[in-house]
This record gives sequence, C-alpha cells and structure tokens, in this order.
Amino acid sequence: FESTVPGELGDPAVGTAEVPEPGAVTIVVPTFNEAGNVPELLRRITESVPARLPCEVVFVDDSTDDTPGVIVRAAQDCPFPVTVLHRERPTGGLGGAVVEGLRAATSDWIVVMDGDLQHPPSLVPELVGSGERSGAGLVVASRYIKGGSRAGLAGGYRIAVSRGATWLTKTLFPRRLRGISDPMSGFFAIRRSAVTADILQPLGYKILLELAVRSRPRQVTEVPFVFQDRFAGESKSSAREGFRFLRHLAGLRTASPVARMVVFGLIGATGFLPNLLGLYMLTAVGLHYLPAEILANQFGVAWNFLLIEHLLFRERRRHRNRWDRMGRFALLANADLVLRIPLIALFVRHFGMGALSATALALVTTFVLRFAGTEALVYLP
Ligand code: GDD
Ligand code: MN
Repeated sequence: FESTVPGELGDPAVGTAEVPEPGAVTIVVPTFNEAGNVPELLRRITESVPARLPCEVVFVDDSTDDTPGVIVRAAQDCPFPVTVLHRERPTGGLGGAVVEGLRAATSDWIVVMDGDLQHPPSLVPELVGSGERSGAGLVVASRYIKGGSRAGLAGGYRIAVSRGATWLTKTLFPRRLRGISDPMSGFFAIRRSAVTADILQPLGYKILLELAVRSRPRQVTEVPFVFQDRFAGESKSSAREGFRFLRHLAGLRTASPVARMVVFGLIGATGFLPNLLGLYMLTAVGLHYLPAEILANQFGVAWNFLLIEHLLFRERRRHRNRWDRMGRFALLANADLVLRIPLIALFVRHFGMGALSATALALVTTFVLRFAGTEALVYLP
C-alpha cells in the first residue's frame, strides 16, 4: 500500500527515524471512512503542534472508501512526516488499529486521538507537557473533571449509556482505574516505554481501558477537555460495538486464573437447575432414579458447557473443534462425579475426617481439579 513515508504494516519503521526522538510525539489516529475529516484534522495539527512539539502522524486505516488517498494528498502540505498503515485484514476494530499504531510509533510520547475532530489537536502539546512535568506514564484527556465536558456527546441516550458504561467499568476495576475519571476516553498520551504491545488483546473501542488494565502504567494524570461535535460524517459506533464492549470487559475481568475460577464456580452452581429439571422429567416418564440421576447430570453438564464456552473461554476456543471440547468437558465433569465417592472414603479412612468435612473437602478438591483440567485440557491459553 502507498503512503507518504514508504512504510507498510509489518515494516512500519521504513523512512522514519529508527531511534526514538526525545521530547517528540507520535500522533496515532485510527480511521474508518473519514475522508471528510482528515484534511481538516491535519490542518489543525499543523496549526497547533509542530511549533511547540516535534511530531509525526500515523494513521491506521481500515476504510473501505478513499480515506488513504485523501490522507496522502493532504499530507503534502504538512511540515511533519505522515504515515498511513492500511490494514487489509483488520482485527480488533478500533483498538486493534491503535495497537498497530503504537507498534509503529517512534517517539518517546504517543498521543491517540480520533480522526473526526471530536478531540481538539491543540491539546496534544499540553497532554505531553503534563506527562513530562508530572513524570506520569499515562495522561488521560478527561471529560469528567473540572474544565472538561461532553458537549459533543449528542442526545440523552448516548449520555446515559456513557455514564452507565463508565460506572460499570470503574466498579469492575477499582484499583487499576484509580485516578482515571474517564476510562472511556479515546484521547490520551502514553509514554512509549509504558506500552506493552505484546500482551494487549484489543477488542473494539475502549483501547484506553485495555492499556490501563493490562499495561498498568505506573502513574496517571488527567487533563480536562471538551468533547467536540463531529466535524463531518457519522459515528461508526453501533449496538454491535456495545456487545463487543461487554465481551471486552469480561475478557479483562477474567484475565487472572483466580477470577476465572470464581466465574467457573458461579457458572457451575447454576447447573443445578437443568440438572434438577432433567431429574424431574426423567423420573416422571418412569425411569429408575439412578440412571435418571446419571442422565440428568448430563443436562447440567451441557448447560455449563454452553455458558463456559460463551462467557468464560470465548477467546480460547480456537484450538480444538467444538465436539472435541464438549467431549473433554463432559469427561471431566463426569470424572468429578466418579472420583468424589472414593475421595471421600479416602479422607474418612486414612485421614480420620468426619463424613461432612470429608465431603466438603472432596467437593473443593474435585472442583479445583475440574477447573485446572478445563483450563489445561479443553481450552488451551
Ligand atoms: N482503523 C479503524 N478501524 N478506525 C476506526 C474503526 C475501525 O474499526 N472504528 C472507528 N474508527 C475510528 C473512526 O474513524 C474515528 O476516527 C475514531 O475511530 C472514533 O470513531 P467514532 O465512530 O467517531 O467514535 P465515537 O465518536 O462514537 O466514540 C468516541 O468517543 C467515545 C467517547 O464518547 C471514541 O473515542 C470512543 O473510544 C470514546 O469512548
Ligand atoms: Mn467520533
């Protein structure tokens, strides 16, 4: 693909300085069909950034229109390097695009901003300056501190959604998001040294959240900003993006094995419902309660499998095919059942435990074994 600086994805450093320039900024702009905005964006960056801070701009583009061509033409009037990385096979949506930009950046500081002018370019030097002065690794442009506002967030509906999402996210990550009033912001500066691109798993719009939770920059500060109206075109966000956001939250929240085990247990606990229902139906049609018990257990297993596939291990399903996973999962679940009685006997006879505590210990043991088995044998990381 053509770009003003002859670089392509996978080889983004061609033509730009290999050595990071201190006190300079790489502005990363994800674009999806923003032809109407890009020339004005570059004009405003030219107006307010290079005189105060050496800069380069990296567009990461997933457009289906002529945005890349428009960028290349507009870049001819820019006194700084402009690169377009056009992704032929976009993954991760907006967040995936930003991570490509983070990888391609060469300056000490990286500013991420939208291409539709909702984020004022005049704030770029201030974001970096604030980080330099405070020693912070991450500077968030926030709509929710004094001096900031969400003027450009059109309509009560979008404001309510934004509020709800911010509240939910802050509640799920109280520690990681301490000091960040606006984790949903798409406008921020981050030190290149604070970016751990390899461990990021971007999924959709909330790339700042991804960075704050997984890269864990040591210190964070905020600068207020007024979220502007879109200059041209329409938002690319949709209901589908909303579901993606929930999946992103679930993935971040279950990143640690302990958190995964808790969710695994909660899902397992809901299995008693289909289990009892199955038992009721099977005995109602005249089956002896013992085979009914065994069969009904499979109802619970199937239910748990479905929930675990879709809620817990959604991102880890690629290694085996579904029937393979289901077979292994069912085997583990039934092994749990078969193992329980001899285990209880062992605890009672050889360790002198009471029947009740032996049962409790056996339940915990088989649960942990089943979880570990599911992690290692069904869903490879
Ligand atoms: N490369 C790429 N790929 N860029 C994308 C994609 C994609 O799949 N989807 C959107 N973009 C680009 C747009 O072209 C735009 O430059 C920028 O990402 C933001 O997209 P918008 O569609 O304008 O987002 P928004 O205004 O609804 O949401 C913005 O504000 C929110 C706060 O209310 C974003 O910054 C959100 O991250 C932020 O939470
Ligand atoms: Mn926008």
